[in-house]
Amino acid sequence: MMQPTIFHTSAWQALERHQRSTSQWHMRDLFATDPDRFKRFSLDVAGIFLDYSKNRINRETIALLTDLALAAGLPNEIHRMRMGAAINVSENRAVLHIALREQGDFDYRVNGKSVMPSVRKVLRQMRKFVHAVHSGAWTGFDGQTITDVVNIGIGGSDLGPRMAVEALQPYANKGIKSHFLSNIDPEHAHQVLSELNPARTLFIVVSKSFTTLETQLNAEVAKAWFIGRTGQPDQIGQHFVAVSTNTEAVEAFGIRPENMFEFWDWVGGRYSVWSAVGLSLALAIGMDGFDDFLAGGAAMDQHFFNAPLEANMPVIMALMGIWYNTFYKAHTHAVMPYVQGLQRLPAHLQQLDMESNGKRAGKHGEPILFDTGPVIWGDVGVNVQHAFFQLLHQGTRLVPCDFIATVNPHYEVNEHQANLLANCLAQSEALMRGKTTSEAQREMFNAGLDEARIEALLPHKVFPGNQPSNTILLRQLDPKSLGALLALYEHKVFVQGVIWGINSFDQWGVEYGKQLARDILPLLTDSAANNKHHDASTLGLIAYYHQYRDIKD
Ligand code: F6P
Repeated sequence: MMQPTIFHTSAWQALERHQRSTSQWHMRDLFATDPDRFKRFSLDVAGIFLDYSKNRINRETIALLTDLALAAGLPNEIHRMRMGAAINVSENRAVLHIALREQGDFDYRVNGKSVMPSVRKVLRQMRKFVHAVHSGAWTGFDGQTITDVVNIGIGGSDLGPRMAVEALQPYANKGIKSHFLSNIDPEHAHQVLSELNPARTLFIVVSKSFTTLETQLNAEVAKAWFIGRTGQPDQIGQHFVAVSTNTEAVEAFGIRPENMFEFWDWVGGRYSVWSAVGLSLALAIGMDGFDDFLAGGAAMDQHFFNAPLEANMPVIMALMGIWYNTFYKAHTHAVMPYVQGLQRLPAHLQQLDMESNGKRAGKHGEPILFDTGPVIWGDVGVNVQHAFFQLLHQGTRLVPCDFIATVNPHYEVNEHQANLLANCLAQSEALMRGKTTSEAQREMFNAGLDEARIEALLPHKVFPGNQPSNTILLRQLDPKSLGALLALYEHKVFVQGVIWGINSFDQWGVEYGKQLARDILPLLTDSAANNKHHDASTLGLIAYYHQYRDIKD
């Protein structure tokens, strides 16, 4: 089979040539020779400012990358997504998370049927429920108000809402504490449940399939804990609600159908925070806040659908990624929010990007021989500076970075915000400029070092620079700007998938892992089980487990 056609296009070849002829450029020189560079390579959209001037690009690079997006048929693919075409080809599904945050009267349809009435119905159901909990109309079994909400879910049913709840804590209803239970390490259930009063706790079991093993196990643990602590098996319906597409399984668990919040197979798990999967967020910040979050996402959607490619923020972010990933062969991409509230953003983006674009087969099954999705990693600044930044400054690898910061903090503490931003800007500047031999020499000379010492230290004091980065500034981290930021990254991932010719909306690799775990489980619960078809390493580890497993009652 052939590579996807994009590989054979003249646009691709032009970019390969352009990369070869420009790879020796240094960004310091690009800044020195173009006073308009910052203005030229920055965008301001939906409360989000993107500076992409610290990239190894010039106008021709953008033009060539835009040609590549056109050669991949990007405008048509955006149109197909909006029209509800089954762009998730391997699962024959539409991809319409954009419908969940639609603010106007665009009528998203799947198989000719509008999805908007059901989207709005669930939003109304959420509003009613959130109001009932907040007003105290919905209580625990003994009439006490709800003080703790536990989201039980994993992957997209955990990462998005968890990150958003954390990010938007300054907007949170102080009467409600949010908790997230995802892992099946028994320690996690213990940590979460041990501090709760069952009479005042509401569990949201979030699972698109309602068959995900981890979520099922944790939901059962929570149910047993609730019954054990209260002696009220009949009150499960008062303390558990569900977000799922699987009505039957939800009812079988003991959740009343009217307390199930529906979502649909055209919403991928990692794109689902906009649906009722965001119920924990809505309970935390209120339904008006949740609506603002949706509106922020929608504002970015409108820009994405309407702006020309060369001035389109998600497209530009995607093209910068393609430039380094595909043409410079960078393997990773670091995301560093200099915002404590966004501490969990890198984890959310890992799933969003790596589960979407970690693919080696083209949409139509053709093998892909170039690199697709990068390894996404990162953590919160300034802590990262004291962790992995040394490698970015003087290591041997090309690591494109995203810096994310806010102009206004939620709390004013002395000069903290200015210091935080100074550090963020200093890092991206240092990564771009580096430090030349003569600068390093002069610095050491001025510090009074003798010639021999300067010579010995010189190789350690020189910084190559030319490390590319985007800087994203939010005026403030609020529901709206968070919505816009997440939609920006979602569309970036979509655009990259379109250009690489892959399906960004399935995850067969994850399914394979789930299947093997089901297969291995009986070997751990029963030492006599048949285990012939596993490899020696897996069998050896299972044997070690049986040898030292000490079951405590
Ligand atoms: O991680 C794989 C995955 O299938 C994700 O796409 C999804 O977000 C997660 O598992 C949880 O699935 P579910 O919501 O069906 O429990």
